[in-house]
Amino acid sequence: MKLAGFASSVMLLLALFAAKPASAAEQRETARTQCEVCHSGLGRTAAALPAVQFRQDVHADRGFTCVDCHGGDPTATDKTLAKGPKTGYRGRPTGAAIITTCARCHSDAELMRRYAPKQRVDQASEYATSGHGKQLAAGDSRVATCISCHGAHGIRMVSDARSPVYPLNVATTCASCHSNTEYMKAERTEAGTPLPTNQLHDYRNSVHYRALTKGNDLSAPTCNDCHGNHGAAPPGVGAVANVCGTCHAVFATRFEQSTHKPIFDRACVECHNNHAVEPSSDEMLGSGAKAICVTCHSPGDNGLLAAEKMRGGIERLKTGIAHARELIEGVENQGMEVSDQKLALAEAGNQLTLARTEIHATNPATVDPVVAAGLKIVGGVENAGQAALRELRFRRRGLFGSLAVIIVVVLALGMKIREIERRK
Ligand code: HEC
Ligand code: HEC
Ligand code: HEC
Ligand code: HEC
Ligand code: HEC
Ligand code: HEC
Ligand code: HEC
Ligand code: HEC
Ligand code: HEC
Repeated sequence: MKLAGFASSVMLLLALFAAKPASAAEQRETARTQCEVCHSGLGRTAAALPAVQFRQDVHADRGFTCVDCHGGDPTATDKTLAKGPKTGYRGRPTGAAIITTCARCHSDAELMRRYAPKQRVDQASEYATSGHGKQLAAGDSRVATCISCHGAHGIRMVSDARSPVYPLNVATTCASCHSNTEYMKAERTEAGTPLPTNQLHDYRNSVHYRALTKGNDLSAPTCNDCHGNHGAAPPGVGAVANVCGTCHAVFATRFEQSTHKPIFDRACVECHNNHAVEPSSDEMLGSGAKAICVTCHSPGDNGLLAAEKMRGGIERLKTGIAHARELIEGVENQGMEVSDQKLALAEAGNQLTLARTEIHATNPATVDPVVAAGLKIVGGVENAGQAALRELRFRRRGLFGSLAVIIVVVLALGMKIREIERRK
């Protein structure tokens, strides 16, 4: 007995000496519930996968286990006992039960504050206001629930690039249902027409998708930036069609002032589309074939007259800038200092950009002063450019003059030298 006690103390001491701080993985290994132990050993069955995926889960990292979502007795090694009637075992949640499973913690401000003080606790309440939430309440189980977008096991932090809701992954996550014509065929819009399934296709052709994926511009919108993460639209936006102004704020204030504002139900979308927002161009404005204005206005009406006037101003400024730039580059190549003129041209370019913003008020009277300011700068640059040209001509004439004098002097010297030599 004594010997055994001694041996075990030695073993313990040895173990203590050999011990290095237990890694997080090892600690989790020892804290594993019987649920995990049994489920990880279930081979290649559907019941084994959750236990494997859960090792990568943010909830496992925070010390949660299977029973936090499923209930049950985590110490029982027997399947039936682990899920006995008195263990609170809830089984596999479906439909609305998924929302309550996640909301139990995520809507509990006190609990969440202990882990992530700044995290929002409105996901479930926002979700209830979304198209998904309303349809779920109406009994449509094909809509997205928390796990359609985040997964059920192997849930990652949303900032993790491998998360299905990371900006670059959101579109394909949504499209797993929304581009699936078979899955969506029974769904209807509020107007009763079939719900379109072209959102991803259109979005992939947009300036926003290109900015996000090719330009690495994480400020460009993907699905959830316009539709909200959980609600029908981001906070503060009455209807999703008004969402554009959250990023393009100045355009929205100009649009507010336009005659269109009270008429257009779909605001910016009426002219720019929602999913397939294309790069804009000056051709969109005016009465030409590519102009957007002609889709609703007819020749001679006030709308088209305004469109032509505004386009005319923009074209004048654009050609003015192009001409002045050519002039300045020409004199620069001949060695003149033009940095001031280049700065002025950049400022004229800003006025051009501003004019393209101002057109959203659809009032030539607000565009004209901007164009005039731009043309004034261009005029100054033109004058400076012409002055530089004159200076160049003057210098060239001066150069010829001094060259002639030098030649005369050299010739005279030569003659003088010859004369002196002849005398010798
Ligand atoms: C001794 C093995 C064993 C233990 C312990 C065990 N399970 Fe299971 N569990 C299974 C098997 C096998 C299935 C597959 C379905 C079946 O055969 O009942 C399953 C199915 C499930 C399912 C799918 C839904 C259902 O009820 O069929 C869930 C959820 C689940 N287990 C969670 C848990 C949780 C939570 C615990 C711990 C409280 C746990 N399991 C403990 C073996 C076990
Ligand atoms: C964050 C909550 C959460 C935790 C933690 C969690 N589960 Fe689940 N589990 C779910 C949800 C939600 C579903 C339903 C998934 C579905 O319908 O696709 C589910 C489904 C399952 C299923 C059924 C899978 C199937 O395809 O039929 C099993 C088995 C399961 N869980 C076992 C576990 C085990 C074992 C653990 C611990 C290692 C665990 N779960 C931890 C939320 C959780
Ligand atoms: C239609 C897809 C979708 C559904 C359904 C969904 N989420 Fe989200 N969730 C997102 C997106 C997208 C983000 C934000 C990612 C980001 O910030 O880049 C997010 C963020 C989160 C976050 C991080 C904190 C925050 O609010 O930004 C939590 C927690 C979360 N969701 C939990 C839930 C819960 C709980 C449910 C169910 C009530 C749910 N989500 C339903 C897509 C969804
Ligand atoms: C037992 C409480 C609990 C339950 C149940 C629970 N969560 Fe969580 N969840 C947390 C905590 C705590 C965090 C960690 C927050 C942190 O540290 O940022 C978290 C983190 C998350 C995150 C990452 C948030 C971020 O900031 O990136 C997502 C996404 C998430 N949970 C989704 C879900 C979903 C979906 C369900 C249901 C299937 C669910 N959770 C169920 C407590 C819970
Ligand atoms: C699990 C499948 C699924 C996923 C994933 C999903 N949705 Fe849905 N969504 C649906 C279904 C089904 C409807 C149809 C509800 C209805 O009839 O209005 C819907 C409806 C919508 C609607 C309302 C359409 C309308 O006018 O009625 C919007 C907007 C929407 N989803 C956006 C998204 C976004 C954004 C994402 C990704 C962040 C997403 N969905 C992910 C299945 C899904
Ligand atoms: C730039 C903002 C923006 C982005 C990005 C965006 N949407 Fe939309 N979406 C809208 C607007 C605005 C509407 C409403 C258009 C209207 O009022 O007719 C809409 C409508 C919808 C609808 C209703 C049916 C329809 O097509 O009219 C669904 C479903 C939808 N979007 C899903 C998505 C999905 C999925 C993605 C990502 C692939 C996405 N949206 C990206 C702004 C956006
Ligand atoms: C989350 C912020 C965000 C939202 C919401 C958003 N945009 Fe954008 N938008 C951007 C960014 C970023 C760019 C890329 C700018 C660039 O070209 O570098 C862009 C580019 C554009 C362009 C092209 C500009 C050009 O130079 O030709 C147009 C047009 C546009 N957006 C219109 C819209 C419309 C219409 C909506 C609403 C349906 C919308 N945007 C919603 C951020 C946003
Ligand atoms: C009546 C049609 C119409 C409406 C409504 C409209 N736009 Fe435009 N938008 C245009 C036209 C036309 C241009 C091109 C102007 C040009 O390049 O001369 C343009 C250009 C743009 C540009 C690119 C400007 C640049 O510098 O090249 C952005 C960004 C933009 N619009 C955003 C919006 C936003 C945001 C809204 C809603 C608040 C909106 N637009 C509403 C017609 C419209
Ligand atoms: C989706 C249809 C639509 C498009 C596209 C559209 N408009 Fe309009 N616009 C209207 C309607 C409707 C009115 C109000 C009725 C009217 O006066 O013609 C209006 C009114 C106007 C007015 C005020 C006319 C007045 O009598 O005071 C101007 C100016 C105008 N639009 C300019 C434009 C310009 C510029 C474009 C192109 C960039 C454009 N609109 C594109 C539908 C449209």
